[in-house]
Amino acid sequence: MSQTDDSAGSRRDFLYYATAGTGAVAVGAAVWPLVNQMNPSADVRALSSIRVDVSGVEPGSQLTVKWLGKPVFIRRRTEEEIAAAREVALSDLPDQSAENENLGAEATAADENRTLDEAGEWLVMMGVCTHLGCVPLGDAGDFGGWFCPCHGSHYDTAGRIRRGPAPSNLPVPPAQFLDEATLQLG
Ligand code: FES
Repeated sequence: MSQTDDSAGSRRDFLYYATAGTGAVAVGAAVWPLVNQMNPSADVRALSSIRVDVSGVEPGSQLTVKWLGKPVFIRRRTEEEIAAAREVALSDLPDQSAENENLGAEATAADENRTLDEAGEWLVMMGVCTHLGCVPLGDAGDFGGWFCPCHGSHYDTAGRIRRGPAPSNLPVPPAQFLDEATLQLG
């Protein structure tokens, strides 16, 4: 008979703590080791679901955590960043799909389809350039979002590719808030 006990206590959850200035993992522009994604070790596979304490993330700042061997950006956007993303016409976007695993494939890249909450404050994305896998820099580039200096890809404040060789928007992974301070990835 299969074991059906799936209580929280029986699962391996990992909690990241984000406090001002600490907890964030500084990640520069570097090629993320592809070995992690191609041949994940047992302990990497065990991290299929992680919980992140985001109570210390201030507007205009970003936390980077490692999930399934890759960096994930958790950004708490300012009003200005939200407004900048929402005034962009879909027709100006090279990739017009949401690239959001929480939505269907037909969802467009409208800003509302990229964020975790309706107000658009929380943006969670894989921190891996969709060109060749570098880790883009935050608060950088010509569109005020992320910039990948490896070959010059510019992403906007919704993580959507705007210029450069990257073919698609930074992917939004499965994510949800468990409560106002705790975000679950996976
Ligand atoms: S890997 Fe980012 S632009 Fe080439």
